[in-house]
Amino acid sequence: MITFPGSRPRRLRRTDRLRDMTRESTLEARHLIAPLFIKERLSRPVEIEAMPAQHQHTLPSLVETCGVLAELGVPAVLLFGIPARKDAEGSAAWEADGIVQQALRAVRSELGDRLVLIGDVCLCEYTDHGHCGVIRGSAVDNDATLESYARIAVTYAEAGADFVAPSGMMDGQVAALRRALDAGGHPNMGILAYAAKYASAFYGPFREAAESRPQFGDRRGYQMDPGNAAEALREVRLDIEEGADIVMVKPALPYLDVLARVKSTFGLPTAAYQVSGEYAMLKAAAARGWLQEEPVMLETLGAIRRAGADLILTYYARAAAERLRRG
Ligand code: PBG
Repeated sequence: MITFPGSRPRRLRRTDRLRDMTRESTLEARHLIAPLFIKERLSRPVEIEAMPAQHQHTLPSLVETCGVLAELGVPAVLLFGIPARKDAEGSAAWEADGIVQQALRAVRSELGDRLVLIGDVCLCEYTDHGHCGVIRGSAVDNDATLESYARIAVTYAEAGADFVAPSGMMDGQVAALRRALDAGGHPNMGILAYAAKYASAFYGPFREAAESRPQFGDRRGYQMDPGNAAEALREVRLDIEEGADIVMVKPALPYLDVLARVKSTFGLPTAAYQVSGEYAMLKAAAARGWLQEEPVMLETLGAIRRAGADLILTYYARAAAERLRRG
């Protein structure tokens, strides 16, 4: 081992070119996935208060945004629906002409194969109680919920989705989807599994955007405890065994240790979700002039890549792709 003065790490930091040449990780538009909200019976897009520059979309504004993203080289979008009608079962989620199903058809017919279309599979936006599954007694009934998730996934496949992303953290959800998709004649439909999803306080702004706040209790009975990392590896292993094609860790920045371990342990294509609260923090600090938005956006996304994410789900997808295009 050569030490000082033979070793001088600063030699590689002398110029932009040297720093560029020797940088270990990169951020490109192709690493980004944009989460988008589509609301039924909306006459014009509504900006989400705690998520500046993000909207509840109408069908036309969604299609337009998807066109911009595709043009910028962002390869995929993740769609969340807000239905006009909620009930205890969340039955609007699996209607053939439900809001996400309509959106999938509209984007597909406008953009063809220019974007990978991912449908988020969950019930919290569709149930009147705001939980991610069917309630029996005071808890979410795991196995009854799986049947609903399977129905949703098949309707997304029929509407033209490329991928489904089960986000409810029910046990066996990946296997249930894989089985239903194969039985329904959709063996090529992919599964992006929310494999290690924590019961996080960083989802607050999303619940405003998706109108999915639980009306009683919380999600700690199904989402993971923030203190656990070994359990995340077990969750990811189960999802891979059940047929996940891509695994996800969520949130991103507060869980980079988990992300790094998931990538190094399994080596599967791995995604991380920079969630609504992570976005809101940067936006709020930037609005006060306390942080410079572009550098912190690029630094956080770069950190998520460095920790092991092949793909990043982020509300910054468009802004980052625009910034990367400018060079
Ligand atoms: C719903 C879901 C949530 C998010 C993605 N899917 C919220 C939750 O679990 O309460 C959060 C995303 C974000 O905060 O950006 N199952």
